[in-house]
Amino acid sequence: MSSVSTSAAAAKGLDGVVVASTGISQVFGNEGRLVYRGYSIGQLAGKATFEEVCHLLWKGHLPNQVELDEIRSMMSARRALPEAVLATIKAMPASTDPMDDLRTGASAIGAALPISGPATYEQALTLTAMFPTIVATFDRLRKGKEPIAPRADLSHAANYLYMLTGNIPHESHVKSLDTYLVLLADHGMNASTFTARVIASTESDICSAVVGGIGALKGPLHGGAPALVMDMLDQIGAQNNIKPWIDRALDGHIKLMGFGHRVYKTTDPRAEILRTMAQQSSTPEFFALARGTEEYALEELHRRKSDQRLYTNVEFYSAAVLNSVGLDRDLFPSTFAISRVSGWTAHVLEQMVGNRLIRPQSEYTGRTDLVFTPVSERP
Ligand code: ACO
Repeated sequence: MSSVSTSAAAAKGLDGVVVASTGISQVFGNEGRLVYRGYSIGQLAGKATFEEVCHLLWKGHLPNQVELDEIRSMMSARRALPEAVLATIKAMPASTDPMDDLRTGASAIGAALPISGPATYEQALTLTAMFPTIVATFDRLRKGKEPIAPRADLSHAANYLYMLTGNIPHESHVKSLDTYLVLLADHGMNASTFTARVIASTESDICSAVVGGIGALKGPLHGGAPALVMDMLDQIGAQNNIKPWIDRALDGHIKLMGFGHRVYKTTDPRAEILRTMAQQSSTPEFFALARGTEEYALEELHRRKSDQRLYTNVEFYSAAVLNSVGLDRDLFPSTFAISRVSGWTAHVLEQMVGNRLIRPQSEYTGRTDLVFTPVSERP
């Protein structure tokens, strides 16, 4: 048997491979530090609003008051969905996964507006403005309720909660959600951002890049984990079940949701901030269960996999925070996307500057010596 050997061995999962230059964000994995355009995440979380961070990611600097007023009014003016997008969402069965709804709705925006040509700031802003409306519209419809039109006088976070419930949200919920949106907006060359950049590098449109990003984010190894964290905490149920549950899972080689990261080799700084938020916003019983689970999980992960440096990732306490603002758990991944679309679009805009097609190679492990036989002669 003859097979081909390529000169370079594949880096499994592209571990450690640098695929782009970016000035947008960087994860310093050993230090447990995340930087958006020069600012450590701790500088921004709880201080800058999501709209300010969008400006930072897209334009490269925090907005002054005039710029902030402008981006706020531009985003709020673009929240309503085109009729064709509404009709697309209405056509979906109530049982549709909200991430499938978001992916379809985002794609419909590209067709309805339409979005084409080289990516623009305006397109980035429009997609980001419309994401909460897609998610809230579908959530209302699947519950047999009328969709609620967006309100231009509310912030991005407040308007999302308003469109879900029809009520002006509590200030503390808005603050928690807004901080969550800031924390999740960008994260170096994560899988969904890489996907969006690959699509952008073919000179496809920004909507296609974002739709690809949603697809990549959906998986449990990326943005699909927090609902599974809640499922895990439900199954654990009580303090005295933490140890047996975790031991059983790890004995069965099941990965614990909300732990481990490709880049962080210490605690994810976002998890630290979200832990504090979760403590403030959850019931004492729930927080005690989550904290107890985290502590025992880390102890066991460090004992069993001492070479791996596994720590709590962003998804563990995201679950608690999103739960405390009243979101259904199957909306957690789409709420992640409502934040991350700002980062995807910033990366698409950056990719367009001096773009070169992203086209890596693969290590072929198949045969090269087979001879064709007609179907009638095949065994
Ligand atoms: N629980 C138990 N063991 C784990 C975990 C975990 N959460 N994470 C990694 N490990 C172990 C693996 O079993 C493997 O052990 P082995 O070498 O003995 O087989 C080793 O650590 C390396 O794991 P990989 O999956 O190769 O690490 P990778 O860097 O490829 O994956 C990932 C990172 C996907 C986040 C992984 O840690 C994981 O699956 N975590 C659980 C899911 C999760 O929390 N996802 C959200 C990620 S955060 C985000 O994307 C926003």
